[in-house]
Amino acid sequence: MRVYDIILKKRGGGELSGEEIAYLIAGYSAGTIPDYQLSAFAMALYFQGMSRREILDLTLALANSGETVSLSGIPGVIVDKHSTGGVGDSTTLILVPLVASAGVPVAKMSGRGLGHTGGTLDKLAAIPGFRSDLSPEELVGAVQKTGAAVVGQTENLVPADKKLYALRDLTATVDSIPLIASSIMSKKLAAGAAALLLDVKTGDGAFMNELEDAFTLAETMVQIGLGAGRETAAVITGMEQPLGRAVGNALEVAEAILTLQGQGPTDLTALALYLGGWMLFLAGKVSHPQEGRTLLEKKIAGGAALEKFREMIRTQHGNAAVVDDPGLLPRAAVVVPVRAARSGYICRLGAGQVGRAAMLLGAGRLNAGDSIDLAAGVTLAKKIGDPVETGEVLAYLHLNGTSEKEPALTAGRLLLEAYEIGAAPVVEPELLRGYVDRGGRHHI
Ligand code: URA
Repeated sequence: MRVYDIILKKRGGGELSGEEIAYLIAGYSAGTIPDYQLSAFAMALYFQGMSRREILDLTLALANSGETVSLSGIPGVIVDKHSTGGVGDSTTLILVPLVASAGVPVAKMSGRGLGHTGGTLDKLAAIPGFRSDLSPEELVGAVQKTGAAVVGQTENLVPADKKLYALRDLTATVDSIPLIASSIMSKKLAAGAAALLLDVKTGDGAFMNELEDAFTLAETMVQIGLGAGRETAAVITGMEQPLGRAVGNALEVAEAILTLQGQGPTDLTALALYLGGWMLFLAGKVSHPQEGRTLLEKKIAGGAALEKFREMIRTQHGNAAVVDDPGLLPRAAVVVPVRAARSGYICRLGAGQVGRAAMLLGAGRLNAGDSIDLAAGVTLAKKIGDPVETGEVLAYLHLNGTSEKEPALTAGRLLLEAYEIGAAPVVEPELLRGYVDRGGRHHI
């Protein structure tokens, strides 16, 4: 086999065999195929696309490039969830204990945040003592004990994807649906869960701006999951404005706790219950996602979900007292209000701009490896549809003395620009847009 011939075949729109794809990925991963050949291949693929079968073969080749996690020691159908990335999206923090409290084990491998979207590991780092660096054996032990664990990806999980993603980032080939879908799904398959729910975001703060693209990505990933023998579904949810009212690591942990207490923001609560209902359904616990939702409402109301969060934090060496006293979480030294310059109704609240404002305050990182400020971020007093008077607070900036003045000013400006105030009343954008399951796509 010659790499040149594989590139030429893809460039001409041909369909590659599983052997050709496996050869390419194994060689690239081992360093015997150079970056320049993979770059040419990625660009050919970008323009020519891939068949469903090719995408599955690419995903499996990536997934098998490193170690895979075996969760076979844990009884029950283990379920995982993945979000394509949002602003203020603390649903994983809520869902892991919530779903586990209903008797379905959750073993979740999460990543750190990059750019304006947050990462679950950074949020959990705000809980004093919490360890997300459990070994695969410790992960299995933690899930056996409490039914719930969240850990960081091990170094050797899908190394070929790490290398390929870095290359795509430098060669303008990130936004290709076959490449995105295989990249995400290779990590999910390697992480070992038998059932998987995908939350594909659409809108201003999302990877897929257009609903049609979000559906296509969702369908592609669902086909991969089903093709690999995992029970998989995807929901399409809106990211026109941030989820909930908190954007920032410790701020989102506090909001997740509030939600597990049944006192969270309505949109975040509704989304967590919707996703959780699907997770229970995919794990075979209930016969319909709605039935799962009803069960989870009871777990919140009866305190079981919150108790599961305490247990999970304790098992992962964190201070579980934060659940009863969120004051133990890192807190910013300064909280600055941002006020409305006119009265009216909030008609737009750009999630991307809010995410970037929080990042500038130190809540997120521009480059992998940057350090972050766990206490920093933004809280939103007003969201789309809310009436507002001139001078009323729209949002608060949370920052520490160490934050430099210039980024804080820019963050304030960005936040003001994120809000648009109109004269006429506005209805809140729909959060739930559709789902994709074995039967195909469904609009809501
Ligand atoms: N997230 C991933 O893990 N990979 C992509 O290609 C895009 C988003």
